[in-house]
Amino acid sequence: MIKKIGVLTSGGDAPGMNAAVRAVVRTALSKGMEVYGIRRGYVGLINGDIIKMDERSVSDIIHRGGTILYTARCPEFRTEEGVEKARAKCEELGIEGLVVIGGDGSFRGAADLSSKGVLCIGLPGTIDNDIACTEYTIGYDTAMNTAMELVDKIRDTSQSHDRCSVVEVMGRNAGFIAVNTGVACGATDIITKEVPYDLDEIAKKMLEKKAKGKQNFVIVVAEGIGHADEIAKIIQEKTHIETRSTVLGHVQRGGSPTVRDRVVATEMAYYAVELLEQGIGNRVVGMQQNKIVDFDIQEALAMKKPYDSRLHQIAEQIAF
Ligand code: ADP
Ligand code: F6P
Repeated sequence: MIKKIGVLTSGGDAPGMNAAVRAVVRTALSKGMEVYGIRRGYVGLINGDIIKMDERSVSDIIHRGGTILYTARCPEFRTEEGVEKARAKCEELGIEGLVVIGGDGSFRGAADLSSKGVLCIGLPGTIDNDIACTEYTIGYDTAMNTAMELVDKIRDTSQSHDRCSVVEVMGRNAGFIAVNTGVACGATDIITKEVPYDLDEIAKKMLEKKAKGKQNFVIVVAEGIGHADEIAKIIQEKTHIETRSTVLGHVQRGGSPTVRDRVVATEMAYYAVELLEQGIGNRVVGMQQNKIVDFDIQEALAMKKPYDSRLHQIAEQIAF
């Protein structure tokens, strides 16, 4: 029987991480386990920045963005010595299991620690939704809703001025936020790495639409493409439509999590503690066909996530 577990958040923060931390702590307490909160991800594990959690340590956080445990990137944890220090800290405190809330990088670290005998369970927490073994990652819905609200606002002013707006959304190398935000905002075009694009073609279509009375144009660009400013300049040169660029940036990482993020975070966290309770480690929790499931960490990291090219194509086909 596992008696003591830890929980940490690592890599980029995501709305819903607090809901996950809360559910890990409360589930573990409900099962009679002791829980430790590790601050700033693997940095806190190596340095012993660790606090004992009780029922009240996670009060009043389910609706808050960010992470009460803070997060960090920890280069030292990529070294053999770093992982060994973390293992030794777990041994010293009697921590047998660990819930790691983060992205792919954090899961690689969790696999290393698992190989040293600490049972680790990864929970997918990133706004990018770029973790292959799961259809959904904690934070994705909130980030897309934030991006959608902001693009709507940009569209208002774009319409008033008969302009084009090029808006860059986050997603690291993946176009998932971009395609969904683009569809939700009725974007004229969506540019992601996953689908080839041609600025000449985009400009030509814009001019055809303008000739039929279209007043505003919104082009959603995925972060992986970059150069939103450059793209805006080229579009303006080619169309003579006044064009502005906006990079939405880190505003997409903050804010109160949506219902979906709070519920999925709670379900996944509960499932993670159940795995630890059974003495199971080296797994990543995910969602497949709306069901919570788990995978071996290495197998999860080797998977490839499909892009929804059909959604992308639908958006372009109906953007008159
Ligand atoms: P994310 O978890 O969001 O993908 P990062 O890629 O920045 O974010 O990873 C978070 C942390 O996980 C890193 O700072 C490092 O401590 C650890 N990590 C990342 N990649 C590896 C790796 N290949 N091996 C071991 N630990 C890693
Ligand atoms: O992974 C989440 C994310 O916000 C990505 O969309 C983005 O590329 C990256 O993190 C930004 O990281 P940082 O917080 O280090 O600027």
